[in-house]
Amino acid sequence: MDLSLFERRRYTQGETPIEYLANLTDLLGGPEIYLKHDDLLGLAGGGNKTRKLEFLVADALRQGADTLITCGAIQSNHCRLTLAAAKKEGLHAMLVLSEIIPGSYREDAVGNNFLYRLMNPLEIHVVSGTCDLNIAMLEHAEILRAKDYKPYIIPMGGSNAIGCLGYIACAKEIIVQSEKLGIDFTHVVTPTGSCGTHTGLLMGLRGSGVKTPVIGMSVNNPSDKHIRRIEKLIQHVNGELFSKRKIPITDDDIIVFDEYIGSGYSLPSEGLKEAVQLLARYEAILLDPVYTGKAMAGLVDLIRKGHFKKTDKVLFLHTGGSPALYHYPDYTL
Ligand SMILES: Cc1ncc(COP(=O)(O)O)c(C=O)c1O
Repeated sequence: MDLSLFERRRYTQGETPIEYLANLTDLLGGPEIYLKHDDLLGLAGGGNKTRKLEFLVADALRQGADTLITCGAIQSNHCRLTLAAAKKEGLHAMLVLSEIIPGSYREDAVGNNFLYRLMNPLEIHVVSGTCDLNIAMLEHAEILRAKDYKPYIIPMGGSNAIGCLGYIACAKEIIVQSEKLGIDFTHVVTPTGSCGTHTGLLMGLRGSGVKTPVIGMSVNNPSDKHIRRIEKLIQHVNGELFSKRKIPITDDDIIVFDEYIGSGYSLPSEGLKEAVQLLARYEAILLDPVYTGKAMAGLVDLIRKGHFKKTDKVLFLHTGGSPALYHYPDYTL
């Protein structure tokens, strides 16, 4: 699993820190909880998409693209970071935003919407929640080509084979840090949405012979849908990028909990509110109201239900997203 075979841009200096959450660990009475700060990755505001974009943008540049097109929900961290990567590279960016709840997009909204305006993309297109975003992006790419732009489409969440390389790299980083710190993590916990982060982490660990379970906390879909999506991504990564030395993943390796979605994607829940408050008040860490808040709610609940041994050492991946806190203040207070 040699990542040096793939072209990569660099948007973060060094590794993201791993912090021991002593106060939260004491409060819950064990296991030991650690947090990997991917909220501190580079580009505007950081977050997990920065790692995927290092490989995706390198591919776009290799193909001679001058415009990145991507899509997401109206408060998409992925759109913010794709726009940021475009600015860093001197490229244009076009965002296609899906208005899942009719009438919910406001150009003057705060959070990520504010940051879109601040960074100034070439165009933003808001489409109905029922619209097929892949088709919408293809149509916009065609229009751009007719105007002599060279567009490169990045799928939802940056979750294709190339995007997964970002979290294969992260898994390798975790292995090195774990050795340096002298801590054998017994579990890794991550939020999971478009599944590239979960898939990359799992493949990165197994590809290095590390058997640590990776627990994905779904923020949108039932577990079976996520499992099928992860299986598909694994096939793509192995088929397209590692065909000579496939990374072996068994069915038991794919663990997804869907009990913490609440009433739906980007909708509030009591667990989310408690988790965001706990991390803010005991650890001075800002989670986000759509992904990490729900994933932490899941971790707290599993701890309370006795899912872990007191001696376990659980690593929670903070995937970023805190700009959305300011858009949904009533979700967390
Ligand atoms: C802050 C944050 N965390 C987690 C995720 C989920 O990552 P993935 O789409 O790779 O499953 C996202 C996706 O947009 C995100 O913005």
